[in-house]
Amino acid sequence: MRSVIDILDFTVEELDELIATALDIIDNPNKYAHICDGKKLATLFFEPSTRTRLSFEAAMYELGGNVLGFSEANSSSAAKGESIADTAKTVSCYADIIAMRHPKEGAAYVAAQNASIPVINAGDGGHCHPTQTLADLLTIRREKGRFNNLTVGLCGDLKFGRTVHSLINALNRYDGVKFVLISPEELRVPSYVKNEITKAGKEYVETKDLAEALPELDILYMTRVQKERFFNEEDYLRLKDSYILDPSKLTRAKSDLSIMHPLPRVNEISVKVDSDPRAHYFEQALNGKYMRMALILMLLGIK
Ligand code: CP
Repeated sequence: MRSVIDILDFTVEELDELIATALDIIDNPNKYAHICDGKKLATLFFEPSTRTRLSFEAAMYELGGNVLGFSEANSSSAAKGESIADTAKTVSCYADIIAMRHPKEGAAYVAAQNASIPVINAGDGGHCHPTQTLADLLTIRREKGRFNNLTVGLCGDLKFGRTVHSLINALNRYDGVKFVLISPEELRVPSYVKNEITKAGKEYVETKDLAEALPELDILYMTRVQKERFFNEEDYLRLKDSYILDPSKLTRAKSDLSIMHPLPRVNEISVKVDSDPRAHYFEQALNGKYMRMALILMLLGIK
């Protein structure tokens, strides 16, 4: 029985296998339509979500399985003080696999230690979001055809952005990747993540200037400044509009730039960018469903 807490729980070969399965699902959906008949996915979401929860649920339905769960802590017995450990033990009696999102770092790990079925971390506080990274990797593979030799700009809230931390850890394993970390001083990538870049022998630069960084990028990964992670509303208001990507800024970018964003977006990408052929964030959301289908199959041991 295997759980997934961190993107580093996968070998590079396993990531390739997940991508291959996702691509096969895209090409041959009928082959997979009943492969999970009789299986149940529990979605335990203690924090809001649109894409992750609904794409997990769509993934299980498209594999022929069923879904149960809750979408907010207040509608579960967590509101009465039940622990994550007891919740995980209980849900193991009702389902075959769990996808769990929680505002506290380490919550998915605690669930995995106590469940008797696989647990997938669907985001734990500011720590990790491995299945978003699976969506990101499939998007990069489909748009760029490779992971090697890419200059990847990550822009916005790089401090609390769990999708950023997971993506850096994933791309650290490929040759010739260079990171351009674009953020205000207060929202820089944490030292422990930068140490991992250095340990992997990869290059990174830190800058506040998106316009200056744009021309050299192959991928621009925009992120939202996350109101829910701030202790102080004043700081959030001061930083929330630090970066707004609009068509005028993009005139300086490469013609084959891939613009990505884990979504939800607030103001950081103008809706005018949506029609730019370089914008891939809604395809990224769709790719998330295919990769979650592939992941469910892997963890349930279904070929
Ligand atoms: N990208 C992502 O995790 O989106 P949701 O918060 O809507 O699930």
